[in-house]
Amino acid sequence: MSSAPLKIGLAGFGNVGAGVYKNLAKNRAILRGRTGKDLEITKIVVRDMSKAREVELPADIVSTDLDDLINDDEIDLIVELIGGTDRAFQLVKDALEKGKAVVTGNKALLAEHGKELFAIAEKNESPIYYEAAVAGGIPIIKTVQESLVGNHIQSVIGIINGTCNYILTRMTEAGLDYKEALGEAQQLGYAESDPTLDVNGWDAAHKAIILASLSYGCWVPCEEIHVEGIEKVCSEDIEFARKLGYTIKLLAIIQLHSENDAIEVRVQPSLISADHILSSVKGVFNAIMVKGDIVGETLFYGSGAGQDPTSSSVIGDIVDAATRSRRSDRSCFVTHGLYGQTQPQSESISKYYLRVTAEDRPGVLARIATILGEHGIGILSVIQPEDHDEETAPIVLMLHFAAFGIVQEAIGKINDLDCIRGDAIVMRVENIG
Ligand code: HSE
Repeated sequence: MSSAPLKIGLAGFGNVGAGVYKNLAKNRAILRGRTGKDLEITKIVVRDMSKAREVELPADIVSTDLDDLINDDEIDLIVELIGGTDRAFQLVKDALEKGKAVVTGNKALLAEHGKELFAIAEKNESPIYYEAAVAGGIPIIKTVQESLVGNHIQSVIGIINGTCNYILTRMTEAGLDYKEALGEAQQLGYAESDPTLDVNGWDAAHKAIILASLSYGCWVPCEEIHVEGIEKVCSEDIEFARKLGYTIKLLAIIQLHSENDAIEVRVQPSLISADHILSSVKGVFNAIMVKGDIVGETLFYGSGAGQDPTSSSVIGDIVDAATRSRRSDRSCFVTHGLYGQTQPQSESISKYYLRVTAEDRPGVLARIATILGEHGIGILSVIQPEDHDEETAPIVLMLHFAAFGIVQEAIGKINDLDCIRGDAIVMRVENIG
């Protein structure tokens, strides 16, 4: 038996918006069967009606004014896929205040304004769904929110930016340089319209903030997390890592430190063992390992970007809104106060990969080792290849466990040595699960 249709206002008809429109139409019958309703897009707002598009815009329902969605009392649900944080914030806020449900894939919006928007959602009893905001087609939000709800989450470690993973994979496997690999990722439509947020780590950081909020019940401020991108990763480091038995991946790490209940959130290019399962996550694929105190380790894998996978998540949320499933009751996230503050990055501990370009003369290695020794940092191994140019030599040191703040201090001093050219490259070596 079918009931009244769910009327949907779609904001944005870019890659994902067009995918949602196309795939809702494609699977209309099965969705009607599963929800008992027609899921009907009755209005679409775009910035530019004349833009050439692969999926044709249904001209009779298009406008360029977001208020047309807000002011249409027949629209029950607004799907926000315009991106950015200004117009999107206003749209989502207005929609929630009008009592409309919202589906968004906007990670930057939630990372920066999630606290405020969830409070508005709760006050107005309007649900907000955001499966597409993290890891494209992988249903990780629902998993943490529902299936793992009985656990203290101990860590969430993931490859959650498909563009960076694509770039690093192509650099590793095809020997491309960074720029060539980025160009390919853009051509294939994986990168955001401004790829800066992908490659500087902030797309992954926004997703990490959302995962931390789900896992630990608090919105970690952007200023309290450590974020590094992949712009400085070069083929030389990929090759050294390979020789040492590691792969370089951009990892998002969200971790509970049980000794002080502090939460650590960071995004960095990291060395992981070439044997680790995350090393085999290639191309645009994402993977997220969630460890809970009851469930132990779990791993979720799939397409982290792209039109169809991301629209699959949006459609899942639309169906949740249509059926008002239990999840909507908990989508207004309540801080449970079980955990403490964020762990200062200076105190975060790991092993490290360090590469310096040094003048090739006696005593250089000793001076580097002295600085490390003075900071209490142990050296696990050293490589200096014989076949280097005449004046300078790359030196790679694998460093023992040390606090990040101390390592940064030591590296500052190494960079100041007159025998060192340029800045040292330092990456964490992660011992995962
Ligand atoms: N551009 C993102 C990525 C997809 O490469 O993973 C949307 O977050």
